[in-house]
Amino acid sequence: MKTLLWATLSANGNYAQSGPGNPPKPEALADFAAQAAAAGNFIAGRRTFEAMRGNGGAGGPFAALDIVVVSRNAGELPGATVVRSPEEALAYLAERGHETALIGGGAEIHNAFLGAGLADEAVFNVAPVLEGKGLNLLIDTEHYACKQVRLLDCKPLGGGVVQLRYGIERE
Ligand SMILES: NC(=O)c1ccc[n+]([C@@H]2O[C@H](COP(=O)([O-])OP(=O)(O)OC[C@H]3O[C@@H](n4cnc5c(N)ncnc54)[C@H](OP(=O)(O)O)[C@@H]3O)[C@@H](O)[C@H]2O)c1
Repeated sequence: MKTLLWATLSANGNYAQSGPGNPPKPEALADFAAQAAAAGNFIAGRRTFEAMRGNGGAGGPFAALDIVVVSRNAGELPGATVVRSPEEALAYLAERGHETALIGGGAEIHNAFLGAGLADEAVFNVAPVLEGKGLNLLIDTEHYACKQVRLLDCKPLGGGVVQLRYGIERE
């Protein structure tokens, strides 16, 4: 199964965070909805899923999708299937017949997939915002590491958001 890691980055290269003072760009949100609809699913960390649910975002256009929440501790979460690891999330979606898994974030989940070498492509939407101290997207959260990736596509999405798509070779 192909795994597609989807993330919004800030213009200064941080892993973009959203909140009341910095709502997600509508163009980036619309792109996530389109990518999730195309995949028929998305995988989220427990904190991101709970934030989406708090904003009423896990229903609506996402109601028909297979939503998989990765958590070490959570019990049942309405509207989602809870699994204990990135590998289990992919096994669940493969068993359900999905050909692509969309990894929607947040940072800890993205870094877990990247660290385990489980991403085949990365879609980065660079938003026109500069951030201070925050979150990072990392292939190794403890040591310096570096991996070449292949630029597959680059296009503006409107509203100052630019989409970069990269191919990632698995080891
Ligand atoms: N830039 C973007 O594209 C984007 C996308 C989504 C969210 N965000 C931002 O990201 C932030 C939230 O991200 P976050 O890093 O705090 O949280 P997160 O990745 O959404 O969720 C973290 C939780 O996932 C579970 N988890 C993480 N790694 C795991 C593993 N290897 N195995 C099993 N479970 C694991 C744990 O859940 P338990 O504690 O339940 O065990 C952990 O507390 C917010 O600021 C949000 O705005 C940004």
